Formats: sequence, structure tokens, C-alpha cells
Amino acid sequence: MRDRLLAAEKVKAIDWRDGALYLLDQRALPFEETWLAYTDAAGVAQAIKQMVVRGAPAIGISAAYGLVLAARKRFAAGGDWKAALEADFSVLAGSRPTAVNLFWALNRLRERLDRLKPADDALAALEAEAIAIHESDREANLTMAQLGVDLIRKHQGNVQALLTHCNTGALATGGFGTALGVIRGAWLEGMVERVYADETRPWLQGSRLTAWELANEGIPVTVNADSAAAHLMKTKGITWVIVGADRITANGDVANKIGTYQLAVTAMHHGVRFMVVAPSSTIDMSLASGEEIPIEERDGSELLEIGGKRVGADVEAFNPVFDVTPADLIDAIVTEKGIVERPDTAKMALLMCRKRLH
Ligand code: MRU
Repeated sequence: MRDRLLAAEKVKAIDWRDGALYLLDQRALPFEETWLAYTDAAGVAQAIKQMVVRGAPAIGISAAYGLVLAARKRFAAGGDWKAALEADFSVLAGSRPTAVNLFWALNRLRERLDRLKPADDALAALEAEAIAIHESDREANLTMAQLGVDLIRKHQGNVQALLTHCNTGALATGGFGTALGVIRGAWLEGMVERVYADETRPWLQGSRLTAWELANEGIPVTVNADSAAAHLMKTKGITWVIVGADRITANGDVANKIGTYQLAVTAMHHGVRFMVVAPSSTIDMSLASGEEIPIEERDGSELLEIGGKRVGADVEAFNPVFDVTPADLIDAIVTEKGIVERPDTAKMALLMCRKRLH
């Protein structure tokens, strides 16, 4: 499957070349493919905040490259450049609060900085670390695709309809996608009849990004309103809901795009299986449960306006962009270290002791 996934690869959202970070502007998709160049940490932090780049792994990878850009500037300015770099760590860490991959990636660079020996080329070492973060995310995606497909096959391998939420594809990661990687793999194996993509209000990651990625590859995709999910499960033979994650806590609770929690409740009611696919960089063992995850709230205008034009009444809007699905509603968490079925604290701890499978 790995080779077939590699051969089918079409979309790339992050490019590191010629001393700059290039990001495919996801705000303009699916109508325009515009690449924006970034050469400093403040620019990268703004790109994350404004959702030029989004999706937990992609945010982490971008922040890592942002820190490398910052280190180059601080080093060139001379003096105690490592102390000066602290301000850049803070700017990048302040861009979005929920996806732990951001903090995980910045921590990896901090640890690399702390391990530097006097003879080391500091800038080359930091760049190598950021590239390793990017490349290992691509590898993790490929491993998870295989594991997720095996899991579908184990339970019910025939051709089926799948439901996904938000965008978890190449746009959201360093490569093929988490949940969407599994869906791509299942399609390549002839196991998918149709993918239903929740529209994903208010930012429309489903109708703008997931539908675009799948249609580009000829995978049959139908967009539905988020509120159609229960009806879909009842009438369209959905066998699995497959989603990504922004942060998974030590007990297996999962923060993901707003609307995921209600999908899990609905799936349980209809006997539809619920799979979360995320690299181990999304697992935050420092938090005991999902109660402790900071949930980002964005401006109400995202709900009350469409394309900059007001469509809602002149009132306040509540716009949390993530929610927490309790572990007991989840059938399986698929990571590059392996699968945890019916997650709980003991199983999550065991998973984190394992090595990556690639
Ligand atoms: O607000 P976004 O678009 O960054 O939210 C993205 C999601 O919720 C994804 O499901 C999650 O980050 C996993 S992406 C592989």
C-alpha cells in the first residue's frame, strides 16, 4: 500500500526551500492555489493564527520551520542569540492553543538546542530537526494508513460508506493525511464505495478542502451538512466514522474539530464504529483527561458572516472550534505506534512505551 499511496500523492501544503517556508494558502482553496513565502517567526505565527496553514501536524511542522527561520535571524544579529530566540518560541506557541503538535514540535527544537555541543553547527542542527519532524510525519501517515485499513478489514472488509469530519489530509499533515490517509488506503484497496464529508462549519474544511483533495484523486465524495450526520448514519449504510485529532489525553479523550463529539454520540446510537487516527505527536500524556484541554474560541464573525458578508442577525456568536470526545465513545485510536481499541489510561500508557512501527 505504501508504494501505491506514494504513487497517488498529488497535494502538498508545506515546502521548505531556498531559505524560506512556503505555505499553500488554505483560505483560498479550492478556487486558487496560491503559495505564500515566510521568512520569520512572526509571519509563520500569523499564518497559523489566520489558518493559511491548519491541521494539527501541519501546524507543528510549520512552527518548527518558523523557529529555524527565527534562529537564523537571531544568530546573524549576534550576541546571546539563544536567549533572544525565547521571544520567537513564545510568538509561535501563542498562535493557536488546542493542537498539541505545535508545542510538541517547539519542544523538540528546544531539546535539540539544549543538546548542542560547542563544535556543532547550531543552525544546521535545528534545520535538520525540523526536516526530521516533517519527514517522520509523512512516514507516520503511511504507517497509520496501513493500520487503519487492516482494522477496517478485521471488522468488516467489504465495500462501504465512510463519514469524515474536517480536513485531515495532505493539507493538514506532512504528507498523506491521518484519517484521510486511512480513507485513501481503503479506497486503493477497493473497500470504499463513497466518502461522506461533513461540510464542517464554520470554516468549511470539509466542503472546501477534504472534498477537493478526494475529488482530485477520483475518490467518490459527497458533501453533507454537519447536521445531516445522524440521518446519514441511519440511511446511507455508514460503517465507520473516521476522524483526526488535535490533542489526545492520557485517558484517551480526544479533542478534534467542533462537531466530532456529537458524531461520536450519534455513531454509538447507530452502531457505527468510530476511529480516531493521529500520530503520537498528538498525544499529550501530561493531561489526565480532556477536561484539561484548552479549547480555542474564534471570532463570532466566522459564524455570522460568509465571505465577509453578514448573514446572521446582529447578535453575539459562540464559536468554539474544537470539542472533546470522551474515550468511552471511541472504538479505536490508530497511531504510528499501533492501535488502541476501546482506549483507557492503561492502554494509552502501554502504547506510549512502544516504538514507532516504521
Ligand atoms: O481548525 P483546524 O482546521 O486546524 O482543525 C483541524 C482539525 O480539527 C483536524 O481534524 C485535526 O487537526 C487533525 S489534522 C490531521
